Amino acid sequence: MSLIEKPEAAPMLALTTITDEHRNLWRLTVTLEAVADDIAAGAAVDPAFFAAAFDYIDQFMDGCHHAKEDNHLFPAVRRRTDRADAAIDRLQAEHRNGPEVLVALRRHFAGPHPDGEALAALRTYAQVLRAHIATEEKEVMPLARAVLTAEDWAEIDHAFSSHTDPVFGPAARDEFRALYHRVASLAPDSVGLGTAVQAEADHDVLLRISGLESSYGRIRALKGIDLEVRRGELVALVGANGAGKTTFLRALSGVQPIGGGRIVFDGADISRLRADLRVRRGICQSPEGRQVFGTLSIEDNLRLGAYTRTPADAEPDLRRVYAMFPVLEEKRRLPAGTLSGGQQQMLAIGRALMGRPKLLLLDEPSMGLAPLLVQEVFNVIRRLKEEGMTILLVEQNAFAALAIADRGYVLETGKVTLTGSGQELIGNEQVRSAYLGM
Ligand SMILES: Nc1ncnc2c1ncn2[C@@H]1O[C@H](COP(=O)(O)OP(=O)(O)OP(=O)(O)O)[C@@H](O)[C@H]1O
Ligand SMILES: [Mg+2]
Repeated sequence: MSLIEKPEAAPMLALTTITDEHRNLWRLTVTLEAVADDIAAGAAVDPAFFAAAFDYIDQFMDGCHHAKEDNHLFPAVRRRTDRADAAIDRLQAEHRNGPEVLVALRRHFAGPHPDGEALAALRTYAQVLRAHIATEEKEVMPLARAVLTAEDWAEIDHAFSSHTDPVFGPAARDEFRALYHRVASLAPDSVGLGTAVQAEADHDVLLRISGLESSYGRIRALKGIDLEVRRGELVALVGANGAGKTTFLRALSGVQPIGGGRIVFDGADISRLRADLRVRRGICQSPEGRQVFGTLSIEDNLRLGAYTRTPADAEPDLRRVYAMFPVLEEKRRLPAGTLSGGQQQMLAIGRALMGRPKLLLLDEPSMGLAPLLVQEVFNVIRRLKEEGMTILLVEQNAFAALAIADRGYVLETGKVTLTGSGQELIGNEQVRSAYLGM
């Protein structure tokens, strides 16, 4: 991830930062529990793993995260509303207790043979920490989004991104990353942080597709696809011409009938749901070939992306899209047909963003663009990911897509033939010869 340039400071940057760290912490708690199971089953675990995990939690929480919340975010929310007071009281009490609990845990896990009491303490700790994160994510942060003013955010974001602050500059974030990798590398193979994430509760999974089938008459375009996208992930679906990529996205959007299988999105089975209701739930697609309406103005094209809501309600989204793509604002009254291919792609992505996606579907966004513009489009996708967007990216340009993806799936004639992390797939011989021209 060090290849990624940091995006410009965006409003509510603090929330993105907090959520990023929550995600790591959540995975860590799941791993700690899995390790506890292993130990209970007789496995020996290197005490260095626990030391690294507790160091990470210690530095992250007491070193910065809590202080920033306690000094900036929580007081601001309290100033604007009393609706979160009880939740914040609880969170702050847990913040105060945190260091003490961690000291006790370190004592339990200092030796090579932690006992039953130690394991019980560890499990409780993991559960309490997850409940803490859930309260912040589900109660406090949504309220903060709703009630805090632009000035509040300016102050909070400044505190969270201040480079002069030794505990929360980019250097500190790099340190956390390094520490987290250390924890991952020390984790026992059986629970390596990756697999623990896969095994974890559905909370983290935004989209789960199983056995998806779809046909055009007698042509079976999708022959039982299994695929998963977790919250905040960028997943690439790559494959040659005619592999079924577009059919898959269209089936997911609800505009292509399915013959079998199940689509579970955000905890609900949407396999039979109408396309417009899927948009409402946050599945928004930027289609293959962009499909902008050439005679309509750029702004009208964007507004179409928010057709499920009132124009007034779409105003902040329009602002956001314009902030992201200034050229669209400059030309907003011109017919979309006057835009270059690259700009039309930005427009198609912008239109999808107007629907407030929880899952953004991009079908071949780099198709037909000059190399420099291809780069530009991939920069935009990276930036969206950095801002926390969950993205399913379909590309023939496999190398570029896998290079920025967390995970990838290779599709061949309607079937998933390979899956793995983006880097694993780029390194895979089969993929290299078939798709990367190497
Ligand atoms: N409207 C259609 N009618 C009949 N067959 C179709 C139709 N659209 C696609 N197909 C067939 O379904 C299969 C999957 O096509 P699809 O467009 O989903 O592939 P793709 O991976 O998106 O390809 P590309 O890289 O060319 O966009 C192909 O065999 C294709 O010929
Ligand atoms: Mg296609």
